[in-house]
Amino acid sequence: MITEKVRIIWNRRVGASYYKLGLKCGKELIAAKPGQFVMLRLPGRASPLLRRPFSIHGIIEGEGIEILYRVVGECTGMLAEALEGEWLDIMGPLGKGFSLSENSGGIYIVAGGIGVAPMLFLSKYILEKKTTCSTGVRVFLGAGSKEDLLCRDDFLNLGIEVTITTDDGSEGEACFITNPVEAAVKEKRPEAICACGPPGMLKCLAGIAETYNVPCQISMESVMACGIGACLGCAVGGKDESRYLHVCMDGPVFDSREIRF
Ligand SMILES: Cc1cc2nc3c(=O)[nH]c(=O)nc-3n(C[C@H](O)[C@H](O)[C@H](O)COP(=O)(O)OP(=O)(O)OC[C@H]3O[C@@H](n4cnc5c(N)ncnc54)[C@H](O)[C@@H]3O)c2cc1C
Ligand code: FES
Repeated sequence: MITEKVRIIWNRRVGASYYKLGLKCGKELIAAKPGQFVMLRLPGRASPLLRRPFSIHGIIEGEGIEILYRVVGECTGMLAEALEGEWLDIMGPLGKGFSLSENSGGIYIVAGGIGVAPMLFLSKYILEKKTTCSTGVRVFLGAGSKEDLLCRDDFLNLGIEVTITTDDGSEGEACFITNPVEAAVKEKRPEAICACGPPGMLKCLAGIAETYNVPCQISMESVMACGIGACLGCAVGGKDESRYLHVCMDGPVFDSREIRF
């Protein structure tokens, strides 16, 4: 894990309130694994004082990393204004990412909203490491509305089948993304489910995984002050009721059976 200042290579708007940020960084960050995250801060500003967590969206070969972010508040609002050539304060790579077996069969990748951020990286990694072929991977993208659907073409360009749902029916079926996931699991049980998205989606997937006995890894979010296990602010309940897990250190990716929803 390193802390350094990195230069912005690009900061492009890719949707109503979504941006992709390219950062030039050293080999430690370029060696990050899917599911790991970084803590970012704009230097030289009094506020926000604390760094904010962002998943690694992709590796820019030999050059750096990419972040996909949604503007929701102070830090992300300022990030959206940042220009190519400006510097950011970064700490990472942090946390535990997805763990994949060498010869995975089918993998169902499920992303809700901005939860797609680490999942494109994961898909590319799976295909590059040849743990399975593109026909062995299926992606399920859920969003509130079609304006919130991200990365569909990136997955299609990798040769991956993509299923879409939106809450308002503006694209794909009008239902939760967990509906087609359950139907697909019933039809053909995958070797693993990997997911990132809102807590309700993750809870539902954990239930599906239990019912159909499929290993399921979920990337959890929580508000983070330090990102390195020092503040204990990112605790979530473990299955064992006497135990709390810390999203920054024990996760953000967990076996769904570890979490008490
Ligand atoms: C491990 C991890 C990975 C993440 N990866 C990404 C990513 O790849 N792209 C991305 O856009 N966002 C990601 N997030 C969420 C991101 O950290 C928050 O959106 C960001 O901290 C908001 O900062 P802000 O100063 O703009 O908003 P603030 O002004 O701090 O907050 C604005 C609003 O967002 C809510 N909020 C802040 N942080 C979170 C959070 N962690 N979860 C839910 N609600 C929150 C606040 O309660 C408030 O309502 C990730 C979070 C975690 C824990
Ligand atoms: S964010 Fe401080 S302990 Fe996890």
